[in-house]
Parts: sequence; structure tokens; C-alpha cells
Amino acid sequence: MKDDCSREINYLRISVTDRCNLRCTYCMPREGIKPISHHEILRNEEIECLVRAAALVGINKIRLTGGEPLVRKGLPELIKLIAAVPEIDDIALTTNGVLLPDMAARLKEAGLKRVNISLDTLKPRRYEEVTRMGKIGDAWRGIEAALEQDFHPVKINVVAIRGFNDDEILDLVGLSFKYPLHVRFIELMPIGISDAWASYRHIPVFEIKDIIERGMGKLQEVKRMDGNGPAKYYHLPGIQGSIGFISPVSDHFCSYCNRLRLTAEGRLRPCLYSNKEIDVKKPLRSNATDMELAKLFAQAIKLKPTRHNIGEGWQEQDRIMSQIGG
Ligand code: GTP
Ligand code: 5AD
Ligand code: SF4
Repeated sequence: MKDDCSREINYLRISVTDRCNLRCTYCMPREGIKPISHHEILRNEEIECLVRAAALVGINKIRLTGGEPLVRKGLPELIKLIAAVPEIDDIALTTNGVLLPDMAARLKEAGLKRVNISLDTLKPRRYEEVTRMGKIGDAWRGIEAALEQDFHPVKINVVAIRGFNDDEILDLVGLSFKYPLHVRFIELMPIGISDAWASYRHIPVFEIKDIIERGMGKLQEVKRMDGNGPAKYYHLPGIQGSIGFISPVSDHFCSYCNRLRLTAEGRLRPCLYSNKEIDVKKPLRSNATDMELAKLFAQAIKLKPTRHNIGEGWQEQDRIMSQIGG
């Protein structure tokens, strides 16, 4: 279905939990957050029901996010349920990768097609610093497991942070020469973190591109890449994967936004950066029909703003990133 700006909305990002086994500095406070109680979190069958309703208004691509989606029990079973919805032709996952080695085979068997894995640094001490508790070896074994299971493509999410990983950009690009990995640099967004911290640490994509071109030659635009998100991809001679850029702040992509978000406790969120939400759990638990639920999806699509206002300064957000799922 098209929204009021003629954007075709066909992609639903489902946050399956607000819990996480890491505490990345730009995403979650050190002490974590008060987690949503189990009763409030949508059950697998409830998510399945909402996916069926979403399909009635044209959603055919699903991404599972968190918090960290792999800490949710029964995730392979949920993927099986979603894969059985005939309209859905793409199911992807965004993860920190730590739990992937144990789960990758089961996720693949359940019908998961692709994974995006966060890795902001190649240095063990820095990884511990940015995640506050993670071990880089665990994330790396997750990436290896994704490649072994032949998920395609495997994308690496690098949040670019001034004074933290700006001296590693060429080394991170190097990953896509050594392995068939698609390394994406993401501009830090001021969501749930202090505006001053975010604007000081923010590195615009054009600056990252410049560093890469000075070190490795001209980036050549890749026209087609599997994916439903806002990244733009580039090729370099000899590369196995590709280099991608996501520029929500310096060059927003709102005019071709194609997505809605569903939070773990059952609220539809028309835009990452707007506090407007529609409760779908209450109607769902009061036995609403698929058509009635589909109408709520249509309502959320109508509520999509023309664009976000990240560039216009700090906006009080009622959720932090881990509660929205990126
Ligand atoms: P594919 O292109 O399908 O692989 O997925 P994706 O890039 O949409 O998913 P992923 O979860 O890996 O997101 C990568 C980064 O893009 C994260 O930092 C997200 O927060 C950011 N992002 C995704 N969608 C939006 C959006 O609608 N608005 C903004 N501002 N950022 C987004
Ligand atoms: N700015 C940009 N990206 C972020 N992510 C989490 N918080 C932020 C932020 N403030 C990214 C994670 C993950 C994806 C879901 O969102 O690194 O790759
Ligand atoms: Fe769409 Fe909002 Fe994302 Fe912009 S920030 S691309 S309007 S969801």
C-alpha cells in the first residue's frame, strides 16, 4: 500500500525483544533498561497473526530486530511461522552475532534468508569498550557461522564514531576484500543518547567515503543489492563483498522510506524518529479479525511523516534504540 507521499510500504521491522546481551554505548545505558514483562511481549502466534494482517496491506518483507533478537526463546519457531505466510518473500535478521554459532543452522532451516551483524571495530579492547561487555571473538564466530550457513548476503553494520573507530575505516573495508562480506558504515543517530555526544561523535558519510577513496581508489556505485533498507552500495576492484553507506543524518532517505516498525510489546511505529505509535496488541488480544488488524496497519501507513527531523536538533524520544530495533 502507498502512503500519502506515494511511498510503497512493503517492509516491516519487528522487534522481538527489548532485551540484549550487550550494552552498546550508543544504544543502551550501562545498567540496561527495565525489560518489558513476558506477559506484555507479543507471543509467536500473535506476531504470526499480525504478519498475516500486514500482508493484507502489502507487507512482503520482514526483518527481525531487538534488542538482540537471538536472546528471545523460540525464535526459529517464529521464523517458521512467518515463512509459512504465503505473501512473505524475505525474512532477515539484525543481530550482534554473539549467539549465532549455536543458532545459525536452526535459523537457516526455519527459513531465515539473510543476516546483518554489528561489528564496530576489529580491536578486542575497543569491542569490549563499545559493547561494555562483549568479546570480539564471539561476534567473529557469529560472522563465520553466518558465512558457513550460506546466508546471503551477510552484511556488517559499523556505526561510525569519531574518536573511536575513524582510524579503522580502511581495515574494516578490508574485511570485504578478505571475505564475501558487505561492510556498511552507518551515521550515528541521536536517539536515546545525548545530543552533544552524538553530534561530536557523528561522522558524515561523505567524510568516510573520502577516507576510503583516498586510501583505495574511486568507489563505483552498485545498482542492485539484496536488501530493503536505505544503504547505498559501492564496489572496488578485487573486492569480494561490497561497501555500503547509511546516511540518516547528512543525507536522509525519507523520500524512499518503505517501512513500518512493530515494537516487542505490540505497538506499530510509523517512523523511527517519531513518537507516534498505534497499539495493535489490545485489539489482537480482544480477538480482532485479520481485516480489523489490517486497518490498523493502513492507519499507521497513513501516519508516516514526510521526513524525520534529526537534523533540527535534539527531540525527546520516549524510547531508546534498543526498544525500537534500529
Ligand atoms: P537491509 O537493507 O534489508 O539489509 O536492512 P536494513 O539496512 O534496513 O537493516 P539494519 O537493521 O541492518 O539497519 C541498518 C541501520 O540502518 C541501523 O542503524 C538502522 O537504525 C538504520 N535504519 C534502518 N531503517 C531506517 C529508517 O527507516 N530510518 C533511519 N533513520 N534509519 C534506519
Ligand atoms: N545510530 C546509528 N545506528 C545505531 N544502531 C543502534 N543505535 C544506533 C545509533 N544511535 C544500529 C546498531 C545495529 C542496528 C540495529 O542499529 O549498530 O546495527
Ligand atoms: Fe522513514 Fe522516518 Fe526512517 Fe525517515 S526516519 S526514513 S521518515 S522511518
